[in-house]
Amino acid sequence: MKSFYITTPIYYVNDRPHIGHAYTTIAADVLARWKRMQGEKVFFLTGTDEHGSKIAQASLQAGITPEAYATRTAEEFKSLWKLLNISNDDFIRTTETRHIKTVQAILTRLYDQGEIYKGFYEDWYCVACESFWLENQLKGAASSGWQCPECARPVEKLKEESYFFKLSKYGDRLLQHYKENPDFLSPYHRAQEMIQFVRQGLKDLSVSRLKEKWGIPVPFALGHTAYVWFDALINYLSATHYELKSLAGIEDQASPQISSSNFKFEETWPCDIHFVGKEIFRFHTVIWPAMLMALGLPLPKKVFAHGWWTVEGDKMSKSKGNIVDPVEVCKEFGADSFRYFLLREMPFGADGDFSKIALLKRYNFELANDLGNLFSRILTLIEKNFSGVIRKMPKGFFMPLILEKNKKITESFEKSAFQEVLEDGLSVAREANRYLEVNAPWKLVKTNPELCESVLAETLIVLRWLSALYHPFMPELSQRMWQQLGELSKLEEVAMKVFREPIATYSPGTRIQKQEILFPRKA
Ligand code: MSP
Repeated sequence: MKSFYITTPIYYVNDRPHIGHAYTTIAADVLARWKRMQGEKVFFLTGTDEHGSKIAQASLQAGITPEAYATRTAEEFKSLWKLLNISNDDFIRTTETRHIKTVQAILTRLYDQGEIYKGFYEDWYCVACESFWLENQLKGAASSGWQCPECARPVEKLKEESYFFKLSKYGDRLLQHYKENPDFLSPYHRAQEMIQFVRQGLKDLSVSRLKEKWGIPVPFALGHTAYVWFDALINYLSATHYELKSLAGIEDQASPQISSSNFKFEETWPCDIHFVGKEIFRFHTVIWPAMLMALGLPLPKKVFAHGWWTVEGDKMSKSKGNIVDPVEVCKEFGADSFRYFLLREMPFGADGDFSKIALLKRYNFELANDLGNLFSRILTLIEKNFSGVIRKMPKGFFMPLILEKNKKITESFEKSAFQEVLEDGLSVAREANRYLEVNAPWKLVKTNPELCESVLAETLIVLRWLSALYHPFMPELSQRMWQQLGELSKLEEVAMKVFREPIATYSPGTRIQKQEILFPRKA
């Protein structure tokens, strides 16, 4: 069975993880969990990008070896993913043997095929972005110094012998591919920029460095290391054991660094979706597919570029000292509320702003009021007036609404429109709150306890549905919601059934287990 293969970018280890990294990873986790809920086998990959001058420089400053430096930061990423409940199936580091072997095998194969040739390189280079630029793409001026168009830092001129990948010959095929596969460049509003870029004509890509020592040695060229982006993109293949399987002369032996994942190339490739930030869309939609074409491999089905977070209106940067540390936010709000906020606050694909006030608002108004309060009102009424047990079978008052939302939500997930999913969930919770206001079970219990029990039975269906819907977004809290409903099963195992048929999975007479409040209000 083909797995649903989803990836995040592999993160540079020169910096500590921040909300930008957390954002891409959480989004991928939500989609991975949703797919698993649907019974799909999922291969969810993340990892770290550990070579190149940026990391070599950072380790030098820290006074340790690049290896030690990379290991330290990779561990930070891993522990953050644990804290954030990220369910990745594998974590790849570009310094692992399995990756190095794959990169070297691919370089050799492309060289043998004549896709890589020796030349001479002379162009502007930005170390921070690990990107090359033509002079006419730069900001600034020759007199005052040229700057990188992406990050505005000074660029340097590089001139050296280099090996080139024949990227230029893939322009037409790329344009054809974009045309025939309109989903490949997602979301739609980002597609045009890439099409224009390719239409202007592509230059061959320098894929080796003579000066850079911290990198993967190019097997056929002494002293050269692989260009860090060429190295990094290949991670998506190395994690599938691609080279081990397909390239002669290399044994298919699990290296000790290979994690518990047993995903094989045939079961995973082509990748279903690469989640990336908008600034690295070009690498994933121009260079990467051309590399795959040269290897004769099918292309990923979709590359989805999300937007960027500013912090209280400002670009996040070390110099401004406004980098948001996810660990700190989790300490205050909990991992699940943080996950919720990131996907709720802005459409996935657009830019947005992170602020404590915005987070506090979403938390108090949506999680504490609309959602948490709904749970606590209903469960308190059941506990107080019915000793925690509702014996009536609901008629399904909310089912038409739920079924309508289910259709929409499923479509939204297909588009990675997480904000819309959460809006729909919230609208059902609000509808249930209104239903309580209208029916006032707290009064009804005195005048017509039977009817009151029926009203509460209807609302229990909503609570079941909400627990299931929130599972991908808030894996821990949704499990607690589920337990409060008196359920003992692991929510992730039953979530899709509950989401689709909340009534069919309900047994009247189940004793609810009201516990502490789900979302205590915050000041
Ligand atoms: N190493 C490369 C990716 C190689 S993939 C083959 C890289 N790494 S990175 O550490 O810079 O992380 C990139 C990811 O972090 C992108 O998805 C990017 O969008 C995300 N973010 C970094 N800062 C961000 C914000 N301020 N807001 C949202 N996401 C941003 O690029």
